[in-house]
Amino acid sequence: MNPLHRVGGRLVDGLVSGAVDRAVNPARDHGPLREAVEGRTVLVTGASYGLGEATARLLAGSGATLALLARTESRLVELADELRAGGTRVSVHPADLNTPESLGDVADKILAEHGHLDVVVNNAGKSLRRSLALQHDRFHDFSRTMNVNYLGPVSLLLHLLPAMRRRGAGHVVNISTIGVRLPPTPRWGAYQASKGAFDTWLRSVTPELEPDGVDVSTIYMALMHTRMSAPTPIMRRLPGLDPDEAAELVARALVSRQREVAPWWVRPAGVPEVLGRGAYSAALRRLYERSADSARAQGLADGADA
Ligand SMILES: NC(=O)c1ccc[n+]([C@@H]2O[C@H](COP(=O)([O-])OP(=O)(O)OC[C@H]3O[C@@H](n4cnc5c(N)ncnc54)[C@H](OP(=O)(O)O)[C@@H]3O)[C@@H](O)[C@H]2O)c1
Repeated sequence: MNPLHRVGGRLVDGLVSGAVDRAVNPARDHGPLREAVEGRTVLVTGASYGLGEATARLLAGSGATLALLARTESRLVELADELRAGGTRVSVHPADLNTPESLGDVADKILAEHGHLDVVVNNAGKSLRRSLALQHDRFHDFSRTMNVNYLGPVSLLLHLLPAMRRRGAGHVVNISTIGVRLPPTPRWGAYQASKGAFDTWLRSVTPELEPDGVDVSTIYMALMHTRMSAPTPIMRRLPGLDPDEAAELVARALVSRQREVAPWWVRPAGVPEVLGRGAYSAALRRLYERSADSARAQGLADGADA
């Protein structure tokens, strides 16, 4: 093929796949973020990689003061140094959400350092895609996902919310997954149950928090191309957002303070299950049979998880 045609073809492919990504995962027009966060103190959990890191950069660029939490201290320190060089006030809090009982001390340190928090972006998360057949001797798959995605964030908020409620002002932005809003799918049980548990808890306490001036927003995030989704080959081929695009959804929630941000297709995607349960179950079985566990989920490649 003529090299010019090949370049032209790639350009068209790039434009088309970019348009499909944006249609499936709309993430634009976050409005006046600076007005919402300038001079405010925001805790971003999971700030060492992916969406959390991109969110921290976006917020720093809009004048927020930041508290950054994750396990990988070196990544947090590197990011904090870079943001401080740009004039942002940043604190770093290495912590493991897998040990929920340890998080009271972390919360105390954050409050001691900043006085108060205006916003918590509950973003840190642990994904897991593994067949039940590979999990019969892996109860820790379930305890870890529950700790990191549910009990750890609950523990952190139990320590942070009282100060927000006393001040009569605050905002919790939760990064959930569309998996919580769609019918459950094979291999994702541990992950989806843990994300669903936190989503249910947070929605349940929202009417208790709102009268105290604490708003809650949940982002039902679709696929993002990050370290988390990378081990699953099919995810690399599906349309998804990069972390900077996904951070614009966080910005939208911060500006609008709306209770939920979700892709437009979440509701229609639930219809096939309602209309044809038998056919839908059969389709899920076929999906399960025709797909495979990733090499990591099977323990055949480096890294503990799928
Ligand atoms: N990627 C997707 O397709 C997708 C789709 C829907 C929803 N989400 C959700 O989006 C959020 C961000 O995901 P991402 O794609 O940006 O993933 P990522 O790149 O893997 O980042 C996850 C972040 O969570 C932190 N984290 C993981 N385990 C932790 C622990 N035990 N204690 C403290 N921090 C921990 C990680 O930091 P350390 O490793 O340094 O601790 C990292 O900063 C997650 O809540 C995820 O469930 C992702």
